[in-house]
Amino acid sequence: MTPPSLIFDLDGVITDTAEYHYQAWQRLADEEGLPFDREANEACRGISRRESLLVVLGGRPATEEQMQGMMTRKQRYYEESLDQIGPDDLLPGVAGLLDALDAAAIPYALASASKNARPVCERLGIAGRLAALADGYSVERQKPQPDLFRFAAAGMGVAAAGCLVVEDAAAGVEAALAAGMPVLALGPAERFGELLGRGRVTRRDDLRDVTLDELAAAAAFDPVWHVAQTGFDPATQHHMETIFTLGNGAFATRGTFEEGYPGESALTLAHGLWDDMPIVFTELVNLPNWLRLTITIDGDDFRLDQGRVLHFQRSTDLRAGVLRRAVLWQAPNGKTVDLLFERFIAYPRQHVAAIRLLLTAVSHPCAVTVRAAIDGHVANQDLLHLHLEEQGKSGSAVWLRARTRHTKHTLAVATALSAETSAANSAERAADLCAGQPALLAAADLKPGQTLQADKLVAITADRDRPAGEAAGVVARALAEVNGATYDRLRAEHVAAWAAVWRDGDVVIEGDDEAQLAMRFNLFQLLVAAPQHDDRVSIGAKTLSGYGYRGHVFWDTEIFILPYLIHVFPTLARNMLMYRYHSLPGARRKAAGNGYPGAQFPWESAETGDEVTPTWVPHFSDPKKLVRIWTGDIQIHITADIAYAIMQYWRVTGDDAFLRDYGAEMILDGARFWGGRAEPEEQNGQRRYAIRDVIGPDEYHEHVDNNSFTNYMCRWQLQTALEVNDWLRRRHPAIAADLADRLRLTPETFDQWRDVIEHITVIYDPDTGLFDQFEGFFDRERVEPEVFRAADRSLQVIFGIEGANERQVLKQADVIMLLCLFRDAFDRRAWQANWDTYMPITDHRYGSSLGPSFHAWAACEMGLPDEAYGHFMLAARADLRNPRGNAEDGIHAASTGGVWQAAVFGFAGLRPTDDGWTLRPRLPRHWRRLAFTYRANGQPVLVDIQQNEGGDYSVTHTPQQSA
Ligand code: BGC
Repeated sequence: MTPPSLIFDLDGVITDTAEYHYQAWQRLADEEGLPFDREANEACRGISRRESLLVVLGGRPATEEQMQGMMTRKQRYYEESLDQIGPDDLLPGVAGLLDALDAAAIPYALASASKNARPVCERLGIAGRLAALADGYSVERQKPQPDLFRFAAAGMGVAAAGCLVVEDAAAGVEAALAAGMPVLALGPAERFGELLGRGRVTRRDDLRDVTLDELAAAAAFDPVWHVAQTGFDPATQHHMETIFTLGNGAFATRGTFEEGYPGESALTLAHGLWDDMPIVFTELVNLPNWLRLTITIDGDDFRLDQGRVLHFQRSTDLRAGVLRRAVLWQAPNGKTVDLLFERFIAYPRQHVAAIRLLLTAVSHPCAVTVRAAIDGHVANQDLLHLHLEEQGKSGSAVWLRARTRHTKHTLAVATALSAETSAANSAERAADLCAGQPALLAAADLKPGQTLQADKLVAITADRDRPAGEAAGVVARALAEVNGATYDRLRAEHVAAWAAVWRDGDVVIEGDDEAQLAMRFNLFQLLVAAPQHDDRVSIGAKTLSGYGYRGHVFWDTEIFILPYLIHVFPTLARNMLMYRYHSLPGARRKAAGNGYPGAQFPWESAETGDEVTPTWVPHFSDPKKLVRIWTGDIQIHITADIAYAIMQYWRVTGDDAFLRDYGAEMILDGARFWGGRAEPEEQNGQRRYAIRDVIGPDEYHEHVDNNSFTNYMCRWQLQTALEVNDWLRRRHPAIAADLADRLRLTPETFDQWRDVIEHITVIYDPDTGLFDQFEGFFDRERVEPEVFRAADRSLQVIFGIEGANERQVLKQADVIMLLCLFRDAFDRRAWQANWDTYMPITDHRYGSSLGPSFHAWAACEMGLPDEAYGHFMLAARADLRNPRGNAEDGIHAASTGGVWQAAVFGFAGLRPTDDGWTLRPRLPRHWRRLAFTYRANGQPVLVDIQQNEGGDYSVTHTPQQSA
C-alpha cells in the first residue's frame, strides 16, 4: 500500500498550542467576567479566532469594535506564550512520524486556521520540512469549509483526494471530508460523534507508534460501504455507468460524467414516463440530461479524453447515497486543476437532485467558467421521444419544458446554480438560454490554492406526478423545488434518510468484506429503483439504470425483488403490487385476446398491463437475422408468480385490507385464466388436464408441454383462489358477492377449478421425488459434463437456439426454483433427487442471471453452505464484476433481490411455520456473523447469527421497537 501525502492540523496534532490558546482565552474571559472553562474551550477546537470569541462571549452582545479589541488582546496573550515553544513541544509520535515520511519521500503539509501557524512551525523546527503551509491567511472560508485543506494539497501539487488529513477537531474532520479527503482523527471518540460513522474517518488517540501502513489503510475507501473505482479506463466506461447509478425511487441516473465523455450512455429514467417505440412497443424515456457541467479552464474544456488525467477516483458511499469523483487534471494549456464532483438524487424528495463541484487551481492562476445546463437534446439511443416545448429563466433558475411525442406526458426540468470562491471575490453569474439547453454560468479567477465551489440544484417534475395529471403546473413545481433550497440542507436531509433506510434495510455480513459490500450494493440498487411515491409503477428487469428490456417489468419483480421489500419495507412492496392491480385491465385484454377468461398478466409489462414483449428481435450473433421471441405468447407462469407474491405479502404483513380490496381480485381473476388455460384431455382412458406449448422459467426450452413449474404454480393458484374466496366470503361477504358478480364466479367455476387441481398433469415420480422439467425432457440429448466445464459462452450461443432446445441443458434450474418457493412441501429425498439431476446440467455461468441466487438458497436447503457460497457470489457479483459482460445494459434487478433471499432464506434459513418464524442457520465457513431485520405483522425483528470457531451458532431473534 502506498502511503498518501499528509496534511496535518497544528493544534492538538503537531503540538499542543491548544493549551496556550486556552490559557489566552481564559485570561481574556476572566478579565471580561465571562464564564469560561476547559470544557467550554472544547468547542473552540479547530475553529477560527472570531468563532472562538463567539464561544467565549457565550451570547453576550459586543460591537465589532469591542470584538476586534478582544481578539487583539487574546492574540497578544497567546504570542507572549509562544516564546516558550520549541522542538521539544512536538507531541508524542510526531518527530518519529515526520522522520519516517521524510525517509520515504512522502510530502506533507500543514493546514491550520491559526494565523500563528507559521511562527509556531518555525519555533518547532519543522517549517523547512513542510511541502506547503496553509494558515489563517490562506483562505477566506475557514473549517468546516473544505478550502484550507484543498489549499494545502494544491500547495503540495498533489491530488486533494490522495491526501490524508490528520485532525483533532470535529470541525476539521468535517472540513477534510468536504474537501474529499480521508481523515485520521486524533482524540477521544466522543469528540467526533457521528463523524466516525462516515466511513473515511479512522480514529486513534494520538500519533504514537503510527506506521506508514496504518496511514495507507486509513486513506483507503471503506471496504464495506464504498463502491470505488481508482482509475478511469474507457474500456469499462459503460459498465461503470451502470455501477454508479443513483436514484430515489422516482427517477435514476446512470453514472456518466458531468462534462460528458465520447460514446457515453447518459441516461435518466423516471418511473411511469413511457413513450411508444417500434418493436418493443414502449420504453421509458431518456429525460433531459441534468448532470451537464461544462467547465472551462482558461479556454480549455475539462474532459478526460484530453489533457492529462493525473489522478482519478470515483466512489459511491452506499451508506449516504452520495457519488463522488475526484480528478487532478492538467489542461492542454498546461494548467493543473483539482476537481471534486459530488452528487446525489435526494431520497426523501421525489423530484430533486444536486451536484457540488469544488474546483481548485493548482499550478497556475486561471480563469474558470462553469456552465450548468439542462441538456434537452437527448434521445433513447437514436430514438427521439421528447418534443422540447419551451424554456426560460425565472428568478435565479432556468427551466425547460418538454412533452413525450406519443404518450403526451408533459415534464419540466429546472436548475439553479450558486457559486462562491475561497477568496473574498464571489463568482460572477449569468444565464444562457441556448435553444434546448438552458444554462446558468459562473465565472471566477482563481489563484493557485483557491477553490471555486459551484452547487447545481435540479428538479424534474411531470404531469403524472399529480393524480389527475397536471401539465400546466410542471414548471412552477420544478422551480419551487430548487428556489430557496441549499445543497447543504438537501444533503443533510438525504443522508439522514439513507441512515434511516439502512437501520431497517441493512444486512450485516462479518468475515467477508467482498460479500458485505456486494450485499449492500445490491440492496442499494434495489432501493433506488423501488417506487416510494407511486403505486402505478414497478421495478423493471434492469431497474432504472439502463436500456436493457426498456424498463419492462417481468416475473423478476414478484419472485426475486419483492420478498426483500415485503419483509423489510412493506409499503414499497404494496406500491408494486398495486401496480399489478392497476394493470388488470391490460391483463384481462390479454386473456380475452387469447380466448381465455380472467386475467393473464403479460410476460413483459409497462404502463397498461398489455403485453409488450417484442415479437422479433435481432439475432444475438448476427443482427441481420431476426429471432422470434415466444415468451410474450407462451411464458405464462407470470400470472401465478404475481399471486404468489400477493400471498407472501399478505402472510408476512397481515394486510387484510389489501387482500380484501385488491389481492383477492387479482388472485381470483388469474385463477379464471388458469381454469380456461388448462386443457382437458384423456390419456389411457384417464381424464387429465395438460398445459401445452409453454416456456417455463428455463428459457432454453420453448414450446414444451406440461412444464412442472408452470403446472404446479397453476394448481397452487387455483387452490389458493378457492381459499381466498372462502376467506372473503367469511370475512367480507358483501365484497365476496360483488367480486363473484363482477368476475362471473359461479359454483361451476369453483367445481371446474377443483377438477383441474385434482387432474392437472405434474410429472413427478412419487418413488424418487424427481420432477420431469417438462414432458419428454429426459428424452432430449444429454450433454457431457466436460462441455459445461469448458464453456466460455452461454450454452445457447454454443449450441444455437435450436440446439439448446434439443438438449438437456438449462438456462436456469426451474425445478430447483420451484422447490425453493415451496421448500417445506418437499422431503429430503425429493430435494436430493432434483438437485442431483438438474444442478449439473445448468448453465450456471452464462445462463440466466436469475439462477445463481436461487441455486445458492437451494444449496443451503441441501445443507451445503460452502457450495451455496459459490452461487451466492456469482449472484452478488452480477453487476460489480460483470461476469456475463452485459452489466452495461443496466443492473440485474432480479439478482439484487435474489442475494437477499439467498442470505436470509438460505444462509439464515428464515421461514414462517405454524409456530411462528424459525431460523436454520447454515453460514459459509468463513462468515462470522449474519444479521438483518425483517418485519412480521408490522413488527421489526432483529436476527443476529454469530458463528464461532467450532462452527456452532449463537442466534438471537429480538423484536424491536417500531420506528
Ligand atoms: C430470463 C428471465 C427474466 C428475463 C428478465 C431472461 O433472460 O431468462 O427469467 O425474466 O431475462 O430479466
